[in-house]
Amino acid sequence: MTSYTIALNFEDGVTRVIQCDDDEKVTDAAFRQKINLPMDCRDGVCGTCKCFAEKGEYELEFYMDESMSDEEAEQGYVLTCQMIPESDCVLQVPATSALCKTAPETVEGEVLGVDALSDTSFGLRVKLARPLSFLPGQYVNVTVPGTDAQRSYSFSSAPGSNEARFLIRNLPGGVMSSYLGQRAAPGDALALTGPMGAFYLRPVERPQVWLAGGTGLAPFLSMLEQVADKGIDHPVTLYYAVTRAADLVELDRLTALADRIGKVTVVTILAAADETHDRKGFVTDHLGADDLNGGDCDVYLCGPPPMVDAVRAHFGGLGIEPASFHYEKFNPTEAGAAAA
Ligand code: FES
Repeated sequence: MTSYTIALNFEDGVTRVIQCDDDEKVTDAAFRQKINLPMDCRDGVCGTCKCFAEKGEYELEFYMDESMSDEEAEQGYVLTCQMIPESDCVLQVPATSALCKTAPETVEGEVLGVDALSDTSFGLRVKLARPLSFLPGQYVNVTVPGTDAQRSYSFSSAPGSNEARFLIRNLPGGVMSSYLGQRAAPGDALALTGPMGAFYLRPVERPQVWLAGGTGLAPFLSMLEQVADKGIDHPVTLYYAVTRAADLVELDRLTALADRIGKVTVVTILAAADETHDRKGFVTDHLGADDLNGGDCDVYLCGPPPMVDAVRAHFGGLGIEPASFHYEKFNPTEAGAAAA
């Protein structure tokens, strides 16, 4: 049976993901997955369930003028009680997640292993008590074993697995870094709460430009895992920028994914002046108008705040506005993330 992934973006910034079966209406699928979308008549009459479809293809079975005008339907508004998806979709829900009685879930896990990938990053592998539903690019809050602290990390693994993987920046003195570097042992218990964040891969309709700064590579690994499973119709160029060659991690995995997908180009960039490399400097030094397909591209960026600001200013300098620009900023500390 075909099943589509529907991202529900609530007005308080929470995003939840549901699966909608063939011929299933979105409100029914949501209800089955314990999310009460606003709804009253269920017949396309009252308009209570009206949302905005940011992406995706769908059928609307029936609606009355009183509930939604043809003009609204053309703009992308939908009645979710009458909406049958024909592709993955992204919906903006004009209600809070609390009102829809949904909240991030907490899943228990245990440490499978910690890999010191470089001096500046760890790989953390976690066995989950059950798979956590998320969109590639989203993050979870992870408890640091033996403490009350929580830290936010993007998955570097694909959804739907009992094993979650993360790339974690090694911050000397940081709570999670100290745990991973000094005390972590297989079997340690931790809890994951999520998913969180609006930084996730939308349905791909044009060339993709993905920009990763340091461990900002994690969400792109997750996206590539999904693309490798589902396929993609447009080229992806992933720019992976770090300070030194020794900071480049997961290159074998990137190469294997790129070979499997066939439409992915990985470009590495080193910032340190004393390194020898084909591409030196910052990502903006290697991103011209042609690389951005004259603006007909979706740009995704995960990196530190100065990288986001620099790339945004660079677009302005080139006079190019990409069709979409999604980004997630690291906080300078280990905790938190801000997506747009
Ligand atoms: Fe009334 Fe959908 S619930 S139109």
